[in-house]
Amino acid sequence: MKNDIEIDWQKIDNIISKYNANHEALLMIMHDIGEIYNYVPQQVIPVLVDRLGVKESLIYSVATFYKTVSLTPRGKYIISVCTGTACHVRGAEKIMGALEEKLNIIEGQTTEDRLFTLDSVRCIGCCAAGPVVNVNKETHGGLDRSSVLEIINEYKHRAS
Ligand code: FES
Repeated sequence: MKNDIEIDWQKIDNIISKYNANHEALLMIMHDIGEIYNYVPQQVIPVLVDRLGVKESLIYSVATFYKTVSLTPRGKYIISVCTGTACHVRGAEKIMGALEEKLNIIEGQTTEDRLFTLDSVRCIGCCAAGPVVNVNKETHGGLDRSSVLEIINEYKHRAS
């Protein structure tokens, strides 16, 4: 997957300035950049190193530790399949399998068109509605194979 996108450096500058180039705000800054591009593009890393005075290794550590920031392209829609115990018992594995098949990716990957990223998550607190899937901030419960595929079609439709 290509990782070279056009960066709006003014926007990057605005984000860094908003936090007064404070190195303690690194996670927030990476978050805000992710809001624009769905990930933190590689070209931005040297700028963060320079402006915030942080080590490049710290940026990689933050991206590894926090699932909410990524250094590789993420989809417009992040699908998080709950694999907590209650959802597991109610068939989360089948839901994950159906999504992997439909999107032609495996967990952790992003579709070529950058529309979907498939992830798993541990209990999102709606166990009674399991199996549950979050798509960005929207929660869908009581799913089976066909209803989860309908949901994907709906997001595809929204994006077109
Ligand atoms: S186990 Fe899935 S919401 Fe709790």
